[in-house]
Amino acid sequence: MTAQIINGTLLSQQLRADVSRRAAALAAEGAQPGLAVILVGSSPASQVYVRNKVKACEDNGVYSVLEKYDADMSEAALLERIAVLNRDARIHGILVQLPLPPQIDAHKVIEAIAAEKDVDGFHVSNAGLLMTGQPLFRPCTPYGVMKMLESIDYRVRGAHAVVVGASNIVGKPQAMLLLQAGATVTICNSKTRDLGHHTRQADILVVATGKRNIVTADMIKPGAVVIDVGMNRDDNDKLCGDVDFANAKEVAGFITPVPGGVGPMTITMLLVNTLEAAERKAASQPERASKQ
Ligand code: GUN
Repeated sequence: MTAQIINGTLLSQQLRADVSRRAAALAAEGAQPGLAVILVGSSPASQVYVRNKVKACEDNGVYSVLEKYDADMSEAALLERIAVLNRDARIHGILVQLPLPPQIDAHKVIEAIAAEKDVDGFHVSNAGLLMTGQPLFRPCTPYGVMKMLESIDYRVRGAHAVVVGASNIVGKPQAMLLLQAGATVTICNSKTRDLGHHTRQADILVVATGKRNIVTADMIKPGAVVIDVGMNRDDNDKLCGDVDFANAKEVAGFITPVPGGVGPMTITMLLVNTLEAAERKAASQPERASKQ
């Protein structure tokens, strides 16, 4: 059996068309959605990520500002920039690219972002809302994965979902979204004994470890949906995920490729979250938006 490929690029195009349309409607009322992206330091990977985020904004009618700072920026200076952006009426979403340099406490920075502008959904208040089943912002990558499952009409309710990786950015919020959708969820982490024992029970397998080939074909239940969140380089420096794609696709029912799978969806859901933040703000201030 060869798996059906879930094409994240194609699905992104469809969702971004809807973002563009809604962003134009807001702009016509003087309330164009706006995103601020902050990068501290010059990690090549982070530079690529933030460039792609800003370009996606430009391509879809979302106003964006990219602020780049040297790796030795102080925590106080970063907190001050966030305070300014929290008050900026053109900005509906604030994203501080992670990881941050060691002198800056990422938790403090995330908590400094106004919860209603926290388009990453990482603020404790947004994490708490997600956990209690009333999410304001769903973290972008797990949200994109849910959209991918929706795109294949997968019945999540009652399915056994196994999430490999327990980060605050992907694994934990992914588990919460799957649970909310009615799945029975197992979360595996780097200490899990006999990973294959768990993954082989998965109807839905989400892999987010950053370790190339951590999931091989023999660890997949025939017909399962395999979602690969990994972004690694192979021996030829080509992008690859956490799953041994070439062999896994002969066992899985559905599988996401790398590149062209989850990656574009993450950026798309950032646009969606920014748009929704702007829509909420406009709805709360209808007169002001039309006068601007
Ligand atoms: N670094 C890796 N993924 C992410 C993400 O989704 N958001 C932010 N802010 N930083 C990241």
